[in-house]
Amino acid sequence: MEKEICILAIESSCDETAAAVVRNGREVLSNIIYSQIALHTEYGGVVPEIASRKHIEKINQVIEQALTDADKKLNDMDAIAVTYGPGLVGALLVGVSEAKAISFASGIPLVGVHHIEGHISANYIENKDLEPPFICLVVSGGHSHLVVVKDYGAYEIIGRTRDDAAGEAFDKVARAIGLGYPGGPKIDKVSREGNPDAIFFPRAKVGDSEYDFSFSGLKSAVLNYLNSCRMKGEEINTADVAASFQKAVVDVLVEHSMDAVSKYHYHKFAIAGGVASNSALRRAFEEKCKEKNILFYHPSPVYCTDNAAMIGTAAYYEYQRGIRHGFDLNAVPNLKLGERI
Ligand code: KG4
Ligand code: ZN
Repeated sequence: MEKEICILAIESSCDETAAAVVRNGREVLSNIIYSQIALHTEYGGVVPEIASRKHIEKINQVIEQALTDADKKLNDMDAIAVTYGPGLVGALLVGVSEAKAISFASGIPLVGVHHIEGHISANYIENKDLEPPFICLVVSGGHSHLVVVKDYGAYEIIGRTRDDAAGEAFDKVARAIGLGYPGGPKIDKVSREGNPDAIFFPRAKVGDSEYDFSFSGLKSAVLNYLNSCRMKGEEINTADVAASFQKAVVDVLVEHSMDAVSKYHYHKFAIAGGVASNSALRRAFEEKCKEKNILFYHPSPVYCTDNAAMIGTAAYYEYQRGIRHGFDLNAVPNLKLGERI
C-alpha cells in the first residue's frame, strides 16, 4: 500500500484565516475558516491592516483546531503548505511566517502555493474523477481568469479581466444599491426576487482579445442608471437592478468560457473562486454544458470562497512533483500563475 501523504495547509491571503489537513490530495480531514467579514463590513470592504492584525491573533488557534479536528498531530504531517501570493502583502506574510516557523521547528518540508492554483484545485476535492486537461474559469474578488489547465501545475491563462474582477464588480454594485459588503452573496439572494430582463446593461467586448473580460463599463452603466432614476425621482427596484446586473455578468462569463471550450476542443469545464458559488452562474453553466455535452465541475460553496483545503490539495500535487521551498520563501503580492519563486 502506498504511504499516505498528509498536508497541513494555511491560507491568509485576504480576509479569511484558514487552516486544513488534507490526505492524499483529495480527502479533507479538517477545514477551519475564521472569516473576518463582520469586522470589515462597517468599512464597506477589506481593510488590509485590520486583516493582518486579525490573522496574527487567530492563526495559531485555527491551526490547532485543524489538527484536532483531523485527529492528527503535527508530526503526522508530510508537508506544511501555505499561500504565498497573490494577495494582500501584510496578510500573506502572517501565513508565510507561520508556515516557515512551523517547518523550521519541526523539520517538516515547506511548500508554497499560488492562491489561484488553490482555487482551481478546489475542484479536485469533491470531483474525484476530475483530472487535467480542462478549462477553468476562475472568478473571485481579485481575479477573473480563463485558464487552460494542461496538467497539475501547468497552466495557460487565455483570458483575464482588463479592469475590475467579477467579484469586485458584484461588491461595488451591491454597495451602490445599498446591499453592503460582501456584495456577491447579497446580489445572488436578492436577484431571486427580481426580473433579470428588466433593465438591459451592456455586455462588454474587449476588441483585441476574444477571451478577456471588462466589468468597469458595466459597473458604470449600473451607476448611471441609478443616478438617472434618482434625478427623475423614479423609484429604484433593487431586485430588478441586481438581477439585471447579475445576468449581464453571467452572460459574458458563459459566452467567453463556452467559446474557449469549443475552440480548444476540451470536454471538461470547471469554475472556481468566490463568484463560482453564484447560483445563476452555476445554473447557466449547467444548462450550456449539458447542451454542448461537456462535463461541468464546480466546488461546493465552502470550497469556492477562500479556504485552506484547496491549498492543501494544490500542495499535494506540487509535493508529489518534488517541489519544496526554503526558508527564504516570501510573500509575493502579485505572483503570476505558473511562476515559481
Ligand atoms: O475567492 P474569494 O473568497 O476571495 C478572493 O480570492 O478574492 O472571493 C470573494 C468574492 C467577493 O467579491 C464576493 O462578493 C464574491 O466572491 N462572491 C460571490 C458570491 N459569493 C461570494 N459573488 C457572486 N455570487 C455569490 N454567491
Ligand atoms: Zn480567493
